[in-house]
Amino acid sequence: MKRVTVTTLAQYKQRGEPFSCLTAYDATLARCADDAGVDVLLVGDSLGMVLQGHASTLPVTLDDIRYHTECVARGKHRSLLMVDLPFMSNADTGQLLRDAGELMRAGAELIKIEGAAWMADGIAELACRGVPVCAHLGLTPQSVHQLGGFKVQGKAEAEAMRIVEDARQLAEAGAAVILLECVPRDVGKAVRDAVEVPVIGIGAGPDVDGQILVMHDVLGLNSGYVPRFVKNFLTGNDSIEAAFRAYDGAVKGRRFPAEEHTF
Ligand code: KIV
Ligand code: NA
Repeated sequence: MKRVTVTTLAQYKQRGEPFSCLTAYDATLARCADDAGVDVLLVGDSLGMVLQGHASTLPVTLDDIRYHTECVARGKHRSLLMVDLPFMSNADTGQLLRDAGELMRAGAELIKIEGAAWMADGIAELACRGVPVCAHLGLTPQSVHQLGGFKVQGKAEAEAMRIVEDARQLAEAGAAVILLECVPRDVGKAVRDAVEVPVIGIGAGPDVDGQILVMHDVLGLNSGYVPRFVKNFLTGNDSIEAAFRAYDGAVKGRRFPAEEHTF
């Protein structure tokens, strides 16, 4: 079986075939999602919320992320392993390089960083050292206190144009992948068309190159509030692996996200 790499994702985009991504935090569920055909596993700092019970991702440490990266790396075989840099790992370039290096040694194959055009230099520094980067734009949960909540971004024309321009500049700086969270469908499409690198969306509509969801959301394990872009794939399936297969099939068959999941 051929391993998924950043090159594979670029080929998916060139061929116009959507690819699937899920968060994963442990070896067993990572293997399960990998067996189900999911292309990318993300050790997300969402672990602060879904595993640790915090109200945001801010308390998550580099040690937390490294521990879960090691767990997922032991379980997966085919999927590409993407890993989040935690809050303030971008405090300066030295810290950024050291923290990313530590996660790469733990098994990361693609490092995800929240930020905007101002992250261009840091992304270039990582890229020239052989670290592929996914730049996370739109709703960036590490900025929740500045944004005033988990809100859709890019609704106003100027804000939408800024997101497209940020994506363009970060791809230019060397980002291998762009991830867009919670933006209107048109913004997702505009970013996909503006950059040559693959664009992964969560709440970014169907016109991006790949889709990602938090594993707990796919399994219907929400605590009360369920965001619009989430779908429970365990409904109508009798196992976790069947749910992951249904998610992967729905993404690749362009049945997810549907209109009702889109802003
Ligand atoms: O931490 C996470 O799970 C993420 C995804 C929501 C993209 O960053
Ligand atoms: Na994250």
